[in-house]
Amino acid sequence: MFEVLNYSIGETCAMDMNLLGKTALVTGSTKGIGKAVAMELAGEGVNVLINGRSREEAERTVDEIRKAFPETSPQAAAADLTDITQREALFEKYPQVDILVNNMGIYEIMGYADATDEIWEKYFRTNVLAANALCRFYLPRMLENNKGRVIFIASEEAVMPSGQMPQYAVTKSALLSLSRSLSRLTAGTEVTVNTIMPGPTLSEKVQQIIEGIYAADNIPFAEKEKKFMAGNLPQSELQRFIRPAEIGKLAAFICSPYGAAFRGSAVRMDGGMVPTIY
Ligand SMILES: NC(=O)c1ccc[n+]([C@@H]2O[C@H](COP(=O)([O-])OP(=O)(O)OC[C@H]3O[C@@H](n4cnc5c(N)ncnc54)[C@H](OP(=O)(O)O)[C@@H]3O)[C@@H](O)[C@H]2O)c1
Repeated sequence: MFEVLNYSIGETCAMDMNLLGKTALVTGSTKGIGKAVAMELAGEGVNVLINGRSREEAERTVDEIRKAFPETSPQAAAADLTDITQREALFEKYPQVDILVNNMGIYEIMGYADATDEIWEKYFRTNVLAANALCRFYLPRMLENNKGRVIFIASEEAVMPSGQMPQYAVTKSALLSLSRSLSRLTAGTEVTVNTIMPGPTLSEKVQQIIEGIYAADNIPFAEKEKKFMAGNLPQSELQRFIRPAEIGKLAAFICSPYGAAFRGSAVRMDGGMVPTIY
């Protein structure tokens, strides 16, 4: 009765989330989860601002979205969000958004002893401070308009650090606290602030890693995925990577009027990685 959703990257199908004509800035939306969130929102009639450092990739993504959803007006919003000057130029160009999805983030498995102060600072600047600066600009405007949605994309590492990347896990835990704090400021308004915690998700980068690990095996990707999950992520109940579109659909729902009662929530879509009740 319940079929396995086997979206390929970038694939989508429309729900009706009552978001027609809204504007959304999705950070880091030229690839992976961010792109899927942007695609799902565009599928709901949202005008999406596509961000990444590469202008070329942002414009290519905009073209793709415009072709798929010609009734919407996607725009390129290329900027390195860790750079104050580029951030401010972005604010000047797009001073109002209805939806802000703080998706952009960096991650890498790294031995604790190898992560220097510079690396820790880079992770904080990229994964926490950039998102915070965007909130400091857009959230007061949303509160003034008495409408808006902010979503942070954290990770299951926020609540279940694997030990494989402490410099990353700490930043994702920080986002949970930031999201909860900011939600406190929305009391009595139609603005919401929430966090999604995806588990292992099949972005292009993750797919390349898996293809690389099993480069010598002449088997289809589905088999490689199965082998990887069984060998490396046995705690996943899903036993496949989450598809970016699945995270995208959840984000669209939380952004919609139907998601108004999500307030300061940390929503897990982790394939069952975290074994606890809360
Ligand atoms: N994939 C997973 O398994 C997984 C699981 C849990 C949580 N997450 C989280 O989900 C988010 C997205 O992950 P993903 O795997 O989809 O990432 P990804 O495929 O590496 O994509 C990252 C995006 O961010 C952009 N970006 C990177 N640095 C930037 C900067 N300084 N300023 C602006 N844009 C920048 C990239 O474009 P450019 O390179 O052109 O800048 C790209 O569009 C991250 O926060 C990650 O921590 C991922």
